[in-house]
Amino acid sequence: MAQAADDAGMPALADNISMWNESYDWSQQGDEWSDAWGGVAYQWWVTLFSRIQGFVPAGRILEIAPGYGRWTHFLRDLCDELVGVDIAETAVAHCRKRFAGDEHVSFHVNNGTSLAIATDRSIDLIFSFDSLVHAEHDILAGYLEEFARVLADDGVAFIHHSNMGSYEPGSYDPHNIHWRATTVSAELVERLARSVGLRCVSQETVAWGNEKLLNDCFSVITRAGSRWDRENDTAANIDFTRHEMATARRISALYPRARPALAFGAQERSETARSHTTALELAAGGDAATARSLLRDTVRGQFDPEALNDLAVLAHRCGDSDEAVALLQALICLHPEHTAAHENLAALREARPE
Ligand SMILES: C[S@@+](CC[C@H](N)C(=O)[O-])C[C@H]1O[C@@H](n2cnc3c(N)ncnc32)[C@H](O)[C@@H]1O
Repeated sequence: MAQAADDAGMPALADNISMWNESYDWSQQGDEWSDAWGGVAYQWWVTLFSRIQGFVPAGRILEIAPGYGRWTHFLRDLCDELVGVDIAETAVAHCRKRFAGDEHVSFHVNNGTSLAIATDRSIDLIFSFDSLVHAEHDILAGYLEEFARVLADDGVAFIHHSNMGSYEPGSYDPHNIHWRATTVSAELVERLARSVGLRCVSQETVAWGNEKLLNDCFSVITRAGSRWDRENDTAANIDFTRHEMATARRISALYPRARPALAFGAQERSETARSHTTALELAAGGDAATARSLLRDTVRGQFDPEALNDLAVLAHRCGDSDEAVALLQALICLHPEHTAAHENLAALREARPE
């Protein structure tokens, strides 16, 4: 992610909360942190999904620190239930709105270490990425204790955390470590896990945003004796930035991202608009252009928010994403509570070229 505070040190929890709640400019939902990969989708499929694919689909996923839902967008399709916890109320509020259409997804504010929202042995996959890299020793210790309580018998955690604690202070430029926590290392996380009856079964240290320091670590943690338990397999991936980020960016330049799944608000549409129904029937038959023109006339004759949303979907299907975005923005302005419009706009943004 972009550097969000002074490198001099991790802010206290209260400052951390206020930074994410009030100071950080979330206008791009955190998608800007994926620029080095060529976009969110490329970072997800190249870097994240390739590492967690063996753990999904999962019954219940708990995501720590989802922010504005950069990874939730993908994780929600890989589980029966997803719970997100974040210290920032604004992040929780945004996720609630962004994923309002997903009944199996919920979000809660937590205190920075507690997973009280989850019952004992109820979670199949704990996931956290690009957030706990700033968390110091005490936060990691608190969360690991909670992992020992909430992980299901064969549950597993995939967490991204700092490895800067493995370097002697003074042996690196403190202004160039991407604001990573300095008291956390792969070795510390393994020790903390062991102390609460858990095991690290793989730890990959990576050079994140540089080519010299293994500043970050991806740890996979499970219960001793679970089906995932084994000797810790460790790897030092010093080429992470030079190879993996660069490869994802190259792929993003060569190949288009998936078309977004924009949805008609058919359930909610006005029963009185017969031409609206006819337009949707035409669209279902594959004639999006005629459906679009019919619905455009309908909207001109009588303002109907559901017709406007569906017109945006048709504009997108006809390859006119600019009009789709403009229609959805206008609809949200007039009806800020329109869930389908928010979802469709988020899907469009997910797919927009850089
Ligand atoms: C850099 S953003 C990343 C969000 C998301 N993981 C992503 O990659 O887009 C960091 C998020 O972590 C949250 N956060 C920071 N420390 C936390 C903690 N100890 N527990 C829960 N949330 C935390 C912040 O409120 C913020 O939403």
